[in-house]
Amino acid sequence: MSHVDEHEGTRRDFLYYATGGAGAVAAGAAVWPLVNQMNPSADVQALSSIRVDISGVETGTQLTVKWRGKPVFIRRRTQEEIDAARAVTMDELVDPVARNDNKDATLDADDQNRTLDEAGEWLVMMGVCTHLGCVPLGDGAGDFGGWFCPCHGSHYDTSGRIRKGPAPENLPVPVAAFDGDTEIVLG
Ligand code: FES
Repeated sequence: MSHVDEHEGTRRDFLYYATGGAGAVAAGAAVWPLVNQMNPSADVQALSSIRVDISGVETGTQLTVKWRGKPVFIRRRTQEEIDAARAVTMDELVDPVARNDNKDATLDADDQNRTLDEAGEWLVMMGVCTHLGCVPLGDGAGDFGGWFCPCHGSHYDTSGRIRKGPAPENLPVPVAAFDGDTEIVLG
């Protein structure tokens, strides 16, 4: 086995571990660590709703938190990422539905229908590939500068929309809302 093969094997094993229900989250190669932002004072109710401090999330970085046992990506997008997402026309999309639990389920997958704020700086999505549930890699990964799932090669764009590969649907946007300027409430 070549060095390269060994490396790939290791990565694959890690991904399986990360998605195997052990509660871990793969944040890819990002330096941004997994930050489990569950409020220390939270009671049992927090299992269904958590608050995330986003005050330390800089433009062009992503925070990954665990919510209801699954990773959630909270990305603060650059203007380039926003522009790229908003330049896409609906006929370019594999899945034309916004899949945003905060909005009407029938809305089309315009980037404006997927972001948390009007300007599109904040994108919150489940970090679970819609093919078979691996955790996609972020930070501009894949052919469309968004996320890439190496399990079977699914490419998501900077709006988390599936563009290429076997995944059938866009990364879903969970119920989320700002609470002031520094917190997002999930659930
Ligand atoms: S699980 Fe992501 S491509 Fe198969």
